[in-house]
Amino acid sequence: MAIKIDNVAVLGLGTLGGQIALQARVSGYEVTAFDPDPDALKKSLEKFMEVDQSKVRPSPIRVELWPEAASQIRTFPTLADAVKEADLVIEVVPEELELKRKVWKEMDEAAPPEALFATNSSSMPVSRMEGATGRPERCMNLHFYHMTLGQNMADVMGGSRTSPEVLEAGRRFVRTLGVVPLKVNKEILGFCFNRVWRAIKRETLHMWADGYVDFKDVDRAWMIFAGTPWGPFALMDTVGLDVIYDIEMVYYEDSKDPKDHPPQGLKRLVEEGKLGVKAGEGFYKYPNPAYLDSDFLKP
Ligand SMILES: NC(=O)c1ccc[n+]([C@@H]2O[C@H](COP(=O)([O-])OP(=O)(O)OC[C@H]3O[C@@H](n4cnc5c(N)ncnc54)[C@H](O)[C@@H]3O)[C@@H](O)[C@H]2O)c1
Repeated sequence: MAIKIDNVAVLGLGTLGGQIALQARVSGYEVTAFDPDPDALKKSLEKFMEVDQSKVRPSPIRVELWPEAASQIRTFPTLADAVKEADLVIEVVPEELELKRKVWKEMDEAAPPEALFATNSSSMPVSRMEGATGRPERCMNLHFYHMTLGQNMADVMGGSRTSPEVLEAGRRFVRTLGVVPLKVNKEILGFCFNRVWRAIKRETLHMWADGYVDFKDVDRAWMIFAGTPWGPFALMDTVGLDVIYDIEMVYYEDSKDPKDHPPQGLKRLVEEGKLGVKAGEGFYKYPNPAYLDSDFLKP
């Protein structure tokens, strides 16, 4: 019998957790959540509405329904309370393996034994977390992108022992959110599209940090080449430069190849608090970044 998902628990209500929780609620799921920051959902919602209203790229996801959905998400003061009735728990905490494993252990102790577990990690295969639980066959990667930017896709990947039914349930869940599932047949760091995106990030960050090019020209080129309303640097600002740094470090820790180490220039921006859109400044300054100027692509 197909695995049924009605109750979804989201752990972490920041940039990605907020949007997954809101989209799940809009799609008819009962959503419970936990974030140590009691204002996390409110702050995320404000950012999503800003992005949506900027109309950078109209999204088929109906973000205008999210403010009402926010009031219907039940947030709890503890992780244990948030997951106790969940059919699916989605972990969306910062990209640090030790933190994730700690959270996964707590999830395992408090969630019903049949609940499915997913991580939204941008880079780490779920096999690095499944061992913190006693249910590796029910664990998977569900990696969402920025729905508010129209990136309606999610990588779906199993770990070392994930059952096919669990992966099918994951793909079905993703589809019910109006999001296209990208199936990964066997574990790989970076999944399906995120590995492609990561190659672009690595190259462009080094070209900028080593002084070969102005980041704006890379974005101009990309916008002209790919026909998108932003380039890689604008997108990194939207993701959050601290998140980008952490993800690049995961790749570096995996390969130990110095070419995979994120450049010092990126570290400096993070140390200066220039984290991108969420901080009002990253590569660009917000709320009116240069790449949205009407003359940005003028000959
Ligand atoms: N930002 C992106 O574009 C993006 C895209 C895809 C995937 N991801 C992944 O999603 C995850 C979260 O990234 P984000 O950008 O949403 O980060 P974020 O910093 O915006 O949000 C993280 C949230 O987790 C909360 N948190 C911290 N410890 C917690 C705990 N123990 N339990 C519950 N919540 C906790 C924080 O208070 C914060 O609100 C990371 O694994 C990241 O790699 C991010």
